[in-house]
Amino acid sequence: MSRAKISIIGAGNVGATTAHWCAAAELGDIVLLDIPQVGDMPKGKALDLMQASPIVGFDSRIVGTNDYADTAGSQVVVITAGIARKPGMSRDDLLSTNAKIVGSVAEQIKTTSPGAVIIVVSNPLDAMVQRVLKVSGFPPKRVLGQAGVLDTARYRTFLAMELGVSVEDVSALLMGGHGDTMVPMPSCTSVGGIPVTRLMDSKRLEAIVERTRSGGAEIVGLLKTGSAYYAPAAATAQMVEAIIRDKKRLIPCAAYCEKEYGVGGYYVGVPIILGAQGVERIIELELTSQERADFQKSIGAVKELVAVMNALPL
Ligand code: APR
Repeated sequence: MSRAKISIIGAGNVGATTAHWCAAAELGDIVLLDIPQVGDMPKGKALDLMQASPIVGFDSRIVGTNDYADTAGSQVVVITAGIARKPGMSRDDLLSTNAKIVGSVAEQIKTTSPGAVIIVVSNPLDAMVQRVLKVSGFPPKRVLGQAGVLDTARYRTFLAMELGVSVEDVSALLMGGHGDTMVPMPSCTSVGGIPVTRLMDSKRLEAIVERTRSGGAEIVGLLKTGSAYYAPAAATAQMVEAIIRDKKRLIPCAAYCEKEYGVGGYYVGVPIILGAQGVERIIELELTSQERADFQKSIGAVKELVAVMNALPL
């Protein structure tokens, strides 16, 4: 059986680190693509990563390039191209620049890897993934966004820190847009099978939710020169693995919801089954009235963002 081909567009912090996690998990051969710039950055990173393979013990051919021909026939394409958030910048400030960039990437992928599943990571995520859907013309199940796995991982990390338990025992779900309006689902959060609400009071839980909501900004504030990349890349690699290995993972991702949750044709974070075909099913949960209200608010924010993007000369 030949190895899967994974292309990562944008070989910056998130892209290169995604390549690192994918290679370490031996998910397939990897192509790292970036625009031509000083030096031959993607080639250098690819070669460096390849040279880690005898030490770590993975067989993966990693190629760095500026040429989309090298990405042809990819099974999965990850888009991390764009500019990263600087201190004081909201995800929305990135809108115009990154919409142009991801649009140009989608244009290329459409012809070079027409059968791929595309995972969009560039921010502002909920708008970028919509842009990629439109430009690529791919079926919605083959275009999805990485946000929920990361947001949920942040939430799980903070919960484990607070309770002094292993992160492995914390299972949680967050829904909605990848921004300040993300929706925690306490009814779907448990620790070793015990509902979280039986282990901490609502005030402590709310503080953790708040920290999760601004989890990206917290890292930006500390790094000063860029945004988070280890956890975003690990989250992306988990999605790549679910597709390559047809794992049918039940994880939250930004998926195109039409009738689901009454969204009406937007990308929003929902629990899905992720496998070789991309989004194989969207799980529709019965929401409590609070969850429904929060989710509606979050959809409103996503719609606003997309409306701003659609009004731009792209
Ligand atoms: N085609 C390919 N690559 C591009 C293009 C393009 N048209 N335009 C920019 N890039 C590349 C840049 O050259 C850079 O190497 O995208 C890379 C982005 O890398 P970083 O600046 O290191 O940013 P990173 O931290 O990786 O974040 C990338 O992911 O999580 C999101 O908010 C984040 O939108 C940002 C994206």
